[in-house]
Amino acid sequence: MSAMRRPRLINRQPAEATGLRDELAAGLLAPSAHVSPKFLYDSLGSRLFAAITEVEEYYPTRTEAGIFNAHAEQIAASIGPGCTLVDLGAGNCAKACNLFPTLKPARYVAVDISVDFLAESLNYLQFRHPEMDVTGLGCDFSSRLDLPDEIGSGPRVLFYPGSSIGNFTPDQALVFLQQARDASQGGGMLIGIDLVKPQAILDAAYDDALGITAAFNLNLLNAVNRQLGANFGVSNFRHIAFFNAEQSRIEMHLEARHTNTVTWPGGERCFVAGERIHTENSYKYTVDRANSLLNAAGFRRTRCWTDPKGWFALFWATV
Ligand code: AVI
Repeated sequence: MSAMRRPRLINRQPAEATGLRDELAAGLLAPSAHVSPKFLYDSLGSRLFAAITEVEEYYPTRTEAGIFNAHAEQIAASIGPGCTLVDLGAGNCAKACNLFPTLKPARYVAVDISVDFLAESLNYLQFRHPEMDVTGLGCDFSSRLDLPDEIGSGPRVLFYPGSSIGNFTPDQALVFLQQARDASQGGGMLIGIDLVKPQAILDAAYDDALGITAAFNLNLLNAVNRQLGANFGVSNFRHIAFFNAEQSRIEMHLEARHTNTVTWPGGERCFVAGERIHTENSYKYTVDRANSLLNAAGFRRTRCWTDPKGWFALFWATV
């Protein structure tokens, strides 16, 4: 009996967490406290996010999947078979996995900040696709997208679904897309971007009735406690999410239910009742604004597919 093929795992996460601790402390001590959304994705957070994608109110995942299903042949024909598919923020790898039958990639590279979660996901994926050349890359590409040569040379299809681009400010998104253009090495980018829509739909998508998004947001405090050695009490805060129309973004915050003091080695902060920690933005675009952003980043040719309601857009962008 032949041994089961194992996915290759490259870990580029720094072993030393001092930089993360400094970043967290600086955000918590800022006049308007904030924590980067990357801290939402610890092992439990990644699972909670996977659960969010299944709640009724959270339309982006199933709407994007509907676009893929409706236009699978056209999308696959635009990209061509045998590509190196680089999945940015792969999570449980389910979205990319669903594309395998139509896209027929030769190689799959899954990139995620949560290395343990990625390793688990890839073992399962390799079991289901024993023929696939699979590599996992643990790295935080939110501050700089720089893919190592070890993942293979030649053009790459960067897969960036789910409107994760919306978690950057538009200025950051431009820089990220420029880095993506370079990292694609003449390939392209398959990117999902969430579109502006009626406010009630947006608000509900980020505050579902089951409270999964609330748990996802509050779990960030557990991640901060672990990373920073802080003593946040999760029950001292509540989840807040709303659409800020002026900025065209959903904002997520954690609001102090009552005045409480949080301490960590070398620091402390008192949060008065009602004070908020800003944890995430999720920008919503129009097709035109998304197209302009891609063009500005150097992706001069784009193809765009949307769903019948015009809620979500999928772009294939090349230089
Ligand atoms: C990963 N990202 C695109 C999600 C979003 O919709 O902005 C994260 C999320 N936050 C709350 N719900 C989902």
